[in-house]
Amino acid sequence: MTTINDCKLIDLPIISAPQGNLTPIEGRKDVPIDIERVYYLYDIPGGAERGGHAHKELQQVIVSVLGSFDVVIDDGRYKKTVRLDRAYHGLYIPRMIWRELKNFSSGGICLVLASMPYSEEDYIRDYALFLEQKRAI
Ligand code: TYD
Repeated sequence: MTTINDCKLIDLPIISAPQGNLTPIEGRKDVPIDIERVYYLYDIPGGAERGGHAHKELQQVIVSVLGSFDVVIDDGRYKKTVRLDRAYHGLYIPRMIWRELKNFSSGGICLVLASMPYSEEDYIRDYALFLEQKRAI
């Protein structure tokens, strides 16, 4: 059974140059997942909250490539808020962790690296059902 202690803040590589910084991310090398899909959240209106679900199998790494936001991670027993505000920090979230993303700074961009293609079947969007499934594991 996964817990919030299995969520890890990862230091991503930084290649610094006078012309600016570059952060490369390779699956299984820089992050502990095979990257099957990438998506990003942007043009996020003030006060918006995203997430509000868990995944049955999907693992993700979340990066604030621009600006900042909070990720609330919840294993059904314990909750923790992780603030992401650096383009070289990735938050690894294993399967079966409830997550909420909130307090986005204006103009922020959230990059998500995902271990599987999109599948609505993999989502648990009902918190009561999540708790039930957590207890059943
Ligand atoms: P969702 O994962 O609920 O967004 P968030 O967790 O950021 O609030 O996805 C929002 C909508 O976008 C939902 O209808 C599913 C769709 N979607 C895709 O079609 N493909 C994808 O890869 C993702 C992540 C979402």
